[in-house]
Amino acid sequence: MILLSIETSCDETAISILEITGDFPKATYTILGNSLFSQVDIHRDYGGVFPALAKREHIATILPMLERALGESGLKNLPTNPLTAKEKNQIYELLKREGQLAEQLIKFYETNGRQPINVIAVTSGPGLEPALWVGVNFAQALGVLWQTPIIPVDHMEGHILSSIFDGEKLADLAFPAVALLVSGGHTELILMRDWKQYEKIGKTRDDAVGEAFDKVARLLGLPYPGGPQISQLAEGARDANLPPYTDLPTPMLRSPDFDFSFSGLKTAVRYAVAGKNLTDKEKQALARDFEDATITVLTHKLKKAVEEFNVQSVIVGGGVSANSSLRQAVNSLTLPTLYPDLKVYLPDIKLSTDNSIMIALAGHANLDDSLLTTATHKKIVADGNRSL
Ligand code: KG4
Ligand code: ZN
Repeated sequence: MILLSIETSCDETAISILEITGDFPKATYTILGNSLFSQVDIHRDYGGVFPALAKREHIATILPMLERALGESGLKNLPTNPLTAKEKNQIYELLKREGQLAEQLIKFYETNGRQPINVIAVTSGPGLEPALWVGVNFAQALGVLWQTPIIPVDHMEGHILSSIFDGEKLADLAFPAVALLVSGGHTELILMRDWKQYEKIGKTRDDAVGEAFDKVARLLGLPYPGGPQISQLAEGARDANLPPYTDLPTPMLRSPDFDFSFSGLKTAVRYAVAGKNLTDKEKQALARDFEDATITVLTHKLKKAVEEFNVQSVIVGGGVSANSSLRQAVNSLTLPTLYPDLKVYLPDIKLSTDNSIMIALAGHANLDDSLLTTATHKKIVADGNRSL
């Protein structure tokens, strides 16, 4: 089967086309087409993602992304009937808040014809609502054009599955597994006793880790998104073996639960820089101190979960899983002195931040249960805008 997936939950507009043989979780996935446009350059001036602007950019780039993914895929058109007046009206109705998109999409259909897509998966949440709606409405419009069912996808499930994806297959996961999800909007520990069973055992009580990276970067005068910038500075401090700049807290390290808190850490950084003009070396040291404090808490709670639930596999996903020190820290859980039998899964760097391959995987995982009729599509975002 051919599955097309759409991701627009934040500031990436992404569309992929995958050929899938076999059933989840043993299927083989072939990526036929994969397009992604990142809006980071546009949001940088605002110091973060600006929802109305994100929506505008998704509207402007979603059709070019579809064209690119379809072009890469080399799929051949199906016999195409002209659109009926009713279908055209449906498209206009579905995309009435998306400016010229309805008209452009109809023209695209009339030029390119029906595409041999069997099912469309689209991120329905969590994310920025104006941004999510563009993807969901666009998916529904495509569903009308191609007479294709739609699967709403939880973005976080996508992050989990992309972390165990080797480019072709999902890992043969040993359970119980625990997933640490660290992104710009989420910090969660999810216990999986089996495929598709997600039990949230811990979460941040305030800021997400990625958000803390971004805010600390801002305090150091670095542009959005701050995670990679902080990471680079911290590497510099480690290479030069710089002494600590300050003593930062490790919030909730000893709390008896699996929750996190990062806003106090960010505030401690704010106090550490207030009224000072840091040298480059001091910035590097502080970035390293912040990264170390964050990773200490994350790995401590991971270890606690591994022990408490006799965890066999650890999965780390979300944008912050691109961080090299975090990757190293998580990988070292398998040291002989710790848990040598534990399996650790980290996403390919390209799949750690938002993309549509992850949405295709989660769409396929939910193929049986959630094929929707157009009538229920309206509710997708309202129901789907939840976290795992
Ligand atoms: O998963 P993601 O792409 O989007 C959300 O769903 O939020 O995560 C984006 C977050 C941003 O906060 C960004 O600063 C952070 O991931 N990030 C990193 C790194 N690369 C991206 N944080 C730390 N180190 C990195 N190398
Ligand atoms: Zn994400």
